Amino acid sequence: MDLKSFDTLAMPVQSREEWRLTLEFLEGYFRNRGIEHPVIVEVGIQSNLQKAFYERFLGARHIGVDCSDKYSKPDVMGDALSPAVLQRALDMAGGDFDMVFLDAAQHYPEVKAYFDLWGPHARHVIALHPIYTTEAHPDGMRRLWRELNEASMGEYRFASFRHVVGSDSPCFRYQFGTGLLIKIA
Ligand SMILES: C[S@@+](CC[C@H](N)C(=O)[O-])C[C@H]1O[C@@H](n2cnc3c(N)ncnc32)[C@H](O)[C@@H]1O
Repeated sequence: MDLKSFDTLAMPVQSREEWRLTLEFLEGYFRNRGIEHPVIVEVGIQSNLQKAFYERFLGARHIGVDCSDKYSKPDVMGDALSPAVLQRALDMAGGDFDMVFLDAAQHYPEVKAYFDLWGPHARHVIALHPIYTTEAHPDGMRRLWRELNEASMGEYRFASFRHVVGSDSPCFRYQFGTGLLIKIA
């Protein structure tokens, strides 16, 4: 991955270090499996800043889903808890996705519902963000990540990239963290 080029793009909400390591892992993962153009759906895009990274570094096709177009124009606009919204994204992809990145509302019932609805349509990787939040932050992803780590060892391998407090993120007060569930073939 061209790390100089990485620094020219505007960062999504993850810290730079966390995001770069996540992409480096994914680039190697898909390349080693001969997946030249992975299809990635991101559920909750806000300013849609992940898209350029996936396209440039993974050669990916990115489908952004969001219930709001306040900060950017989603490819699929609507409530990610709706099966009709999932179906529109599947239609755009022409089938299941190589990866699903879940990053919309953060309370447990919603987080669990996204996972149950979108997760079965990920062929390889389900990414959860943020999984290492502070106590003040809704704990949905943190709790789901912990539950899956305890209960689903036979179904997934687990990798996570954690924000380092005091690094260059404008959100340095928070522990974000990206968790990757890698489906065991
Ligand atoms: C934390 S932001 C996403 C950040 C983005 N993934 C990034 O890396 O920069 C969360 C987004 O989820 C969207 N969202 C919240 N609830 C949603 C829902 N039920 N369906 C679709 N989008 C939702 C919000 O509108 C917001 O843009």
